[in-house]
Order: sequence, then structure tokens, then C-alpha cells
Amino acid sequence: MVVKLIKSGLMLVVFISFFLSACNQHQAPQIIPSGEKTVLDSVLEFEPDHVDLGVVKEGDEAIGFLRVRNSGDSMANIVSVETSCGCTVAEPEQRLLMPGGFTRIKVVVDTFAKQGAAKKWILLTDDAGHHSKAELIFHVQSNPHLDGSSRSIFQGKCAACHYKPAKGKVTGSDIYHAVCAMCHGSDRQGATGPSLKHHNDAGMLSAVIANGVGSQHMPGFAVDKGGPLTVAQVSALSQWLSTLDE
Ligand code: HEC
Ligand code: HEC
Repeated sequence: MVVKLIKSGLMLVVFISFFLSACNQHQAPQIIPSGEKTVLDSVLEFEPDHVDLGVVKEGDEAIGFLRVRNSGDSMANIVSVETSCGCTVAEPEQRLLMPGGFTRIKVVVDTFAKQGAAKKWILLTDDAGHHSKAELIFHVQSNPHLDGSSRSIFQGKCAACHYKPAKGKVTGSDIYHAVCAMCHGSDRQGATGPSLKHHNDAGMLSAVIANGVGSQHMPGFAVDKGGPLTVAQVSALSQWLSTLDE
């Protein structure tokens, strides 16, 4: 109790001097980042207070673990966890920390519609009003397939990779590597789409390539079906495919 009183007395002095210095700088004394030793000596300390999560694909979650320590000499209760936006969720594994104790905080950032370098912060407050702040940085790589599952692969921004590369290609091999290999494999071994080995019926191949199989993943590639391939290209491609594995 006595110790507490002395402590809060000290705190008051400290607080007043902080307030005065803050007034000098015309700043409100709000957030006190850990690391910068300011007047309210932070009891909750992030270790470290700056984490780089690296590169994350747009739409994926950026996940990081932070550690926070109670470096004070009394119990700390984390009463609030704030983050820089609704897209960032942080939850300490434990809220009550013994002196010297620590806990892990899992931070999950939803990267939907983000682009390039990004920065998020997490601010903890304990029951005595101490703050501690940590910063997460990461880089969001754009993902052309996000949100495009129901779109034609030949339209809009999809065309750059699924339509345009066929332009001007003459040989079966060139056409295949321009607009087919991404789904059927560079050696026709299959990927998202099935293997195209041992498909020896050129007529059948022409029909499938021109008209598709009625799915969005394998649409008709002929010009009259909205695709990129001319009649001559469909024919060259089918001939080439049908003669590879006798
Ligand atoms: C930057 C080039 C690029 C763009 C733009 C692009 N794609 Fe793709 N797409 C690829 C590549 C490469 C693959 C092969 C698989 C992979 O790497 O993901 C592929 C594979 C696919 C697949 C099969 C794999 C799967 O996820 O089912 C579909 C379907 C597809 N793309 C649809 C689209 C649609 C729809 C769009 C437009 C919203 C689009 N793509 C835009 C390059 C691209
Ligand atoms: C965006 C991915 C994608 C692209 C690009 C693509 N295909 Fe397909 N293809 C598929 C999928 C997936 C199937 C299986 C049918 C389905 O589920 O829609 C398929 C099926 C086929 C089939 C029927 C195979 C069988 O055994 O039934 C043939 C032939 C074929 N594709 C040839 C081609 C050729 C040639 C090209 C290039 C002009 C091409 N595909 C481009 C995804 C693709």
C-alpha cells in the first residue's frame, strides 16, 4: 500500500513533468511507443517492437507473432488491444502477466485490396494505463487471380496473360506455350488442367480447343467463342498436339 502510494506520488510528478514538456511541444501526451524511453516508463514491453513479415500475396493473411513482457514489478493486466485498422486482429494468449512474465500475441492482417508496402500497429494498454506499441511491416504482392474465379479468362485484366500472348503465334508449339501451358503443364503433363499426352485425335482436339468443354476453366478458344485463336491457329495447335505421342 505504502509502496503503491509512493509509486503513484512519483507517477504524478513524472506525469506533470511529462505534461509540461508535452505542452512545450504543443503535443497531446497520448501514445507512448515502447523503445522510446519516455516519462511513463512502459511496463508492457514488446520484444521486439518492430517485425517484418516479408512478402504476402494479396488476399492471403499476413500472420505474425509478437512477444510482450511485463518488465515492471507488479502484475499487469492487458485491458485493451487496439490495432491500426479493422483488417488487423491481435489477441494475446494471456492478458494477466506476472512481473517478469511474458505472453505471445498472434496478429493476423487481412491483405485484401492492399498493395505494396504496408504497415500496421498494435497498441496495448494495461490496467494502470501504460501503453506499449509495436509495428508490423510487410509487402503485398498483387494476385491477378483474386476475385476473378467467375470471370472469363479472356477479358479485362485477365487478357494480358490468357488472351494476348497468342497473338501472332503460328506454330502449334508456340501457341501451346503462350496460352495452354499455364494450365496443362509446360510438357503437357497436366497441372490445373488434365494431361494432354496421348491425345491423338486432331479432330477431337480441334473441337475441344475451339469450343471448350463448357467450363470456365476450359472455355472455347476460337475467335467466334470470344477466344484468341484463329481457325488456322486452332488447326496448327491440334495437329501439333495430336502427333507428339504416337
Ligand atoms: C499475370 C498473368 C495472369 C493474369 C493477369 C491472369 N492469369 Fe490466370 N493464370 C496465369 C498463370 C501463370 C496460371 C497458371 C497457374 C498459376 O500460376 O496460378 C493461371 C491459371 C489460371 C487458371 C487455372 C488455375 C486456377 O486457379 O484454377 C484460371 C481459372 C485462371 N488463371 C483464370 C484467370 C482469370 C479469371 C483472370 C482474370 C481475373 C486471370 N486468370 C488473370 C496467369 C495470369
Ligand atoms: C485456365 C486454365 C486452362 C487453359 C488456359 C487451358 N485449359 Fe484446357 N482444360 C483446362 C481444364 C481445367 C480442363 C478439364 C475440363 C474442366 O474441368 O473444365 C481442360 C480440358 C482440356 C482438354 C480436354 C482434355 C480431356 O482429356 O478431356 C483439352 C484437349 C484441352 N483442355 C486443351 C487445351 C489447349 C490446347 C489449351 C490452349 C489453347 C488449353 N486447353 C488451355 C484448363 C485450361
